[in-house]
Amino acid sequence: MPRLVIVSNRISVSVTKHAGTIRLTDSIGGLATGLTSLAHCYDLFWIGWPGITSEKLNEQDKKEIATKLAQKNYHPVLLSKKQIEQYYEGFSNKTIWPLFHSFPLYAVYEDRYWQTYRQVNEVFCEAVVKNLRPNDSIWVHDYQLMLLPRLIREKLPDAEIAFFLHIPFPSFELFRLLPWRTDILNGLLGADLIGFHTYDYARHFLNSAARLVGAEHSMGSLTIGNRVLKADTFPMGIDYQKYARAVADAKVRQNLAAIRKKVGDRKIILSVDRLDYTKGIIQRLEAFDLFLSQNPRYKGNVTLILLAVPSRTGIGDYMDLRQHLESLVGRINGEHGSIGWVPVWYLYRAVPFERLVALYSLADVALVTPLRDGMNLIAKEFVATKTDGKGVLILSEMAGAASELGEAVIVNAHNKAAIIQAIREALEMPEAEQIERNELMQNRLSRYDLKRWANDFLGTLSKVKQTQQQLSVRKLAESNRRRLLDQYTAGEKRLFLLDYDGTLVAFADRPNKAGPDHQVLTLLENLAADSRNEVVIISGRDKDTLTRWLGKLAISIIAEHGGWIKKKARHWEIAHPLENDWKQTVRPILELYTDRTPGSSVEEKDFSLVWHFRRSDPELARLRTHELRYAVLELTANLGVGVFEGSKILEVRNTGINKGRAVGSWLAEPQWDFVLAAGDDYTDEDLFAVLPEKAYSIKIGPTISKARFNLDSVHELRHLLKQLIEQTNREEITC
Ligand code: ADP
Ligand code: G6P
Repeated sequence: MPRLVIVSNRISVSVTKHAGTIRLTDSIGGLATGLTSLAHCYDLFWIGWPGITSEKLNEQDKKEIATKLAQKNYHPVLLSKKQIEQYYEGFSNKTIWPLFHSFPLYAVYEDRYWQTYRQVNEVFCEAVVKNLRPNDSIWVHDYQLMLLPRLIREKLPDAEIAFFLHIPFPSFELFRLLPWRTDILNGLLGADLIGFHTYDYARHFLNSAARLVGAEHSMGSLTIGNRVLKADTFPMGIDYQKYARAVADAKVRQNLAAIRKKVGDRKIILSVDRLDYTKGIIQRLEAFDLFLSQNPRYKGNVTLILLAVPSRTGIGDYMDLRQHLESLVGRINGEHGSIGWVPVWYLYRAVPFERLVALYSLADVALVTPLRDGMNLIAKEFVATKTDGKGVLILSEMAGAASELGEAVIVNAHNKAAIIQAIREALEMPEAEQIERNELMQNRLSRYDLKRWANDFLGTLSKVKQTQQQLSVRKLAESNRRRLLDQYTAGEKRLFLLDYDGTLVAFADRPNKAGPDHQVLTLLENLAADSRNEVVIISGRDKDTLTRWLGKLAISIIAEHGGWIKKKARHWEIAHPLENDWKQTVRPILELYTDRTPGSSVEEKDFSLVWHFRRSDPELARLRTHELRYAVLELTANLGVGVFEGSKILEVRNTGINKGRAVGSWLAEPQWDFVLAAGDDYTDEDLFAVLPEKAYSIKIGPTISKARFNLDSVHELRHLLKQLIEQTNREEITC
């Protein structure tokens, strides 16, 4: 049976060893607590680090851990002290974590950390490959394993691999600071589907992919080499019912009663986090301090319960934070407290689920004010436990959860005045309003819960796989290739209709650098040398360039998508009346956009004006292309010209000219035994559309098209042409 193989650094259980005894405890953190509930809906197999360094374990311990975890369908990846220091504490948590959370000054860039990160990702890769069964889906999680999708892909090219990032993906301005940014990006691009919590993170990722590896996307779909993959937004949900139902649980009620007894009838403000500098705990406490100073009537009437879970305790920044926090709690309690009232109850530990739910349920206000947070599940868990609808969530706009929880009191976590105002507003909010806000959020959270999130994500993964399969069926596979070669050999009159850029020759930085190399010239020469062959190059380029590059060959050439035609051994003939008055209207606007878009340029051809933006900033060019398209369409509404988007160009030309019409005189000849047409972009679709049914039409690149077949690259088409030429040579030898 196909399984869902989850791979993450942290698994949902952690191993500890006390006085020689191995124990399993629950792990803390959004990823681990969140994904645990998936075991109810999927056949899970979970690979990850069990939270203990291998030096602490003897062989017997290792066996015991493996056996205990195997019973829960976990496979442990054991890591040494050095690996944990450099891969986990080092690269993952001193480089990626601060940088991706917009704390660039906390980030360190150490080559030895990077080397170990790579090495540990390889260790995880081995564990995956060793444990994988046919048809399993692989779902890699989070920033500790960003190289893993590519590593697995290299070993298992057809595997179904997905990746989810649980933290923010930073803007390109921050991401570019990372010396190993391209490796990280390529690592992620090994996946079939890459998921993010919010649209912003997905947008940042796609932007970096465009800038660093030139991968343009269409609605989040990208083509990398010969593979189509997708990046999209899937805001992670919680196991809603688990929290909502728990409120009525007997153990939770006991906890609830015990806490209420201690707090009395004071209002409770709750703050729960892993102790992490991204969570804004210090800023929150400082705001509470000011709140008490500015609102003395609340002294003695409100208690802040501050729960901090020890996290990444081996890292200096986390140790400093703990010290800072504890001295601040001491100062606030000293300054504001009185006999019988402690303003801040501080707990530095994880608490059992029942206690946590009791606290959520009791709290009048949850203060969730991270400075930056990928999602923040605490906010969602709090809302889920409010079964009577009472309670107010104060939420930072910098948490991913803010895009779904708009009915919370939203604050800027750096703005203390805003937090103070929000605390007052929350404590004084009428119950009816609390209920109204919570119900709206609860409806949303209960609908898009953890199960829906995973189903949505895995459903999208299947669709990506289906698209890949559709494309692979269209690939010119061995049987069709054989048939093609046979028909070619048998044919007495054979027609080749070949596009130039992106089909016979790969794109270059600048258009004039994409001249024909020796190999392609020889191929065309050999094809044309066979008297049974008629070779026609159909390009959008101007006739002078094509004459310079291909003029000596015994072939026909069509320039400007059909504006000019040069039949073999004859002169150029104009194929369409030159009606160019529209250029006067359009040229100034293209020039204006060129001035406003660094790196772009205008090319003027006889029948068209082309705006090139291959060398411009991709984001800016994307924006400008939309604007320009509308501007030109408005200007030319009655002029008989169209606006066409090609590979990093926008072309304005006469609508009557297209490649399909251009080949009319060739296709009108009835006696072709064999027709082969190849092209890579939208202009070639007009050609594919007019071909006879039996023609071999080939789209270069893995996208669906009117062509019957696909080949992945220029290289593959050249290889096919070479095979055809060799076929003729073989015939001659046999004769
Ligand atoms: P992060 O992923 O950065 O740790 P989240 O808010 O997304 O932050 O997730 C934290 C998870 O850890 C939640 O599911 C929460 O229930 C759990 N958790 C947080 N604090 C405690 C605590 N003191 N005791 C037990 N569980 C906790
Ligand atoms: C965040 C990260 C998780 C991580 C968790 C706890 O939620 O996205 O990947 O597991 O924090 O951190 P830790 O370092 O203890 O695994």
